[in-house]
Amino acid sequence: MLPIQVIGSLNIDLTVVLPRFHLPGETLTGQDFRVYPGGKGGNQAVAAARLGAQVYFVGMVGEDDNGRLYQRVMQEEGIRADGVGITSEAPTGVALIEVDSKGENRIAVVPGANALVEDAFVEEKQGYPPEKKVCMLQLEIPLYSVTRAAQRARQRGDIVVLDPAPAIPLQDSLLGYVDYITPNEGELSRLTGLPTGTLEEAEAAARQLLERGAGHVVAKLGGNGCLYVDQERAIHAPGFQVKVVDTTAAGDSFNAGLAFALANGYETERMLRFANAVGACSTTGAGAQSAMPTFEQAEAMLKRD
Ligand code: RIB
Repeated sequence: MLPIQVIGSLNIDLTVVLPRFHLPGETLTGQDFRVYPGGKGGNQAVAAARLGAQVYFVGMVGEDDNGRLYQRVMQEEGIRADGVGITSEAPTGVALIEVDSKGENRIAVVPGANALVEDAFVEEKQGYPPEKKVCMLQLEIPLYSVTRAAQRARQRGDIVVLDPAPAIPLQDSLLGYVDYITPNEGELSRLTGLPTGTLEEAEAAARQLLERGAGHVVAKLGGNGCLYVDQERAIHAPGFQVKVVDTTAAGDSFNAGLAFALANGYETERMLRFANAVGACSTTGAGAQSAMPTFEQAEAMLKRD
């Protein structure tokens, strides 16, 4: 199995459960409040480590209680954190999350230390471990750092997986370094300017990303599974029906499942089903990381349907 390197964000999630999302100017009483480790980078790292991958993290926390909390999380999850810097110049990233009664979420992120993950810092840490790896990237650290990290990873022969979240306009030069890009429907639409409401529309939008340089597109379709598109084919892998508690980090878990499958050389259809299963499992518990499955739990989901 190839090691997995995650270069990305670490947030502490302040999560409120509400009967519904509130309206502008409205005060609403919540049912629950919790503090969870989160951040798209941290979530993807924890999910991959739970599956059994050897995970290396490159990122930044503040010199504060939230940063120390996250360092403990990484130690408990067996994630190699030699690449995690501690800064006194900004607090650890924070996300304010609302979860409604259907398990859907709304997220506001304050990047803090994540905004200080500069290219020079990443370059210093990225070479370890030296062997070929799966390199997982998202868009919660500076875009220039992401672009250069993808370029170096590609030059080194790593498999580059980019989760284009949160969605921002991307240069074709970045897409050209990416082996797998994994937008959800909304991100795919925002990246391409095209509708993605049907499978046909999503495939057409994915093909635009291929033309712009991405190697493969795996569009995340929530409960409807995912759509894989490469130059020759399109494969729709249906999702798993589960009782949804909280969808926070379902996409991050999916990406970890995909990276784990790539690290283990799964063939494409098995990879897609495995990623769907990991994403589905993660929605069955509260918070970003609590229900992220072990390999055995993901396999049990696969056998269930
Ligand atoms: O993808 C979910 C994550 O997005 C949350 O954990 C939050 O921290 C934001 O980064």
